[in-house]
Amino acid sequence: MSKPGVLDDLPAYAAVDPHRTCDVLSAFPAQCRAAVGIETRGLPVIKRPRVVVIAGMGGSAAAGDLIGACAGEHLEVPVVVHRGYGLPSVAWDDALVFAVSYSGDTAEVLSAAAMARMRGLPLVVVTAGGALAALAAEPRVASALVPGGLMPRMALGYLFFPIWRTLRALDLEVATVNDIDEALGVVETMGRELAPNQPAVVNEAKRLALAVEGRWPTIYGGPLTGAVAYRWKTDFEENAKTFALAGALPEMNHNSIEAWRAPLAGGLHLLLLRDDGEAPEIRHRFEILKDLVGGVAGGMTECRARGHGVLARALSLVYLGQWTSYYLAILRGNDPWSVPQLDEIKRRLHHA
Ligand code: F6R
Repeated sequence: MSKPGVLDDLPAYAAVDPHRTCDVLSAFPAQCRAAVGIETRGLPVIKRPRVVVIAGMGGSAAAGDLIGACAGEHLEVPVVVHRGYGLPSVAWDDALVFAVSYSGDTAEVLSAAAMARMRGLPLVVVTAGGALAALAAEPRVASALVPGGLMPRMALGYLFFPIWRTLRALDLEVATVNDIDEALGVVETMGRELAPNQPAVVNEAKRLALAVEGRWPTIYGGPLTGAVAYRWKTDFEENAKTFALAGALPEMNHNSIEAWRAPLAGGLHLLLLRDDGEAPEIRHRFEILKDLVGGVAGGMTECRARGHGVLARALSLVYLGQWTSYYLAILRGNDPWSVPQLDEIKRRLHHA
């Protein structure tokens, strides 16, 4: 069967995707809409924080990255996404700490939450269960408890919107209600356009997966979409089980650009995450980049963000990446749901 044929043969998906990841991705817009309504219990009583620290790992940290991307355009208070044990030294007086872990059992996030309590900082936990949910019962811990049963990386809506809502309740607006409405509308439209029942000929995510197949995806974004490029990389790794590279302009112009040489670059497929909000300097740099490396790359595709607001632009690209990595998993015959290596590391750490 031709490669596009593989992606359009829906009955064949069951063998590669026994957990029906495609249904979870199709339900992502509904997840986002539901998540907007999730309330945080026991909001911390604080004056305007000096800094917001969001502690999380992997798929849960991605929610922090998205908050950070939106905050960059709207908020004077800095947002620091912390991936690791404990808390950064900036998390002292007047800091607001979010501990975000979908499973609620991630060691690094639990240690961040413990340190926040030790330092007497206002703490908000966002989780679907585990030890973090148990912590939510403690005094002076605010919590947003979200529905479980998903893979953390596929629960981005449940993790992002409660943080947004909590910040808003504290007078820290990282996206307006209009921005949220727009973003929800955009992902709803995309959910219909990118679903498996849309044939490859009209399905952008299937076409991207087919273009990348057989090469290593290398994703570059700009100042806003650079964070999304990293998310594409991790989705390619976890869903399709392939190596992927990611970076951002302008920084990659000062280092990675030198690595783009034949013949190795021929094994890479360049994916450029473009966004209508790009500054002219960044647009110019993308054009030069295409000119310099387009000839040596195995292939190159530009992907356009949708919408006007920063959230719609970022989230539309995140959603496109989720579907693209899903279809690449199907093409490569890899179950897009399970992450056995990741689970094994957690199991060994737990039993050490
Ligand atoms: C698995 C995934 C991982 C997890 C990470 C942290 O689907 O996305 O990157 O997010 O291992 O686990 P949680 O999110 O449960 O704290």
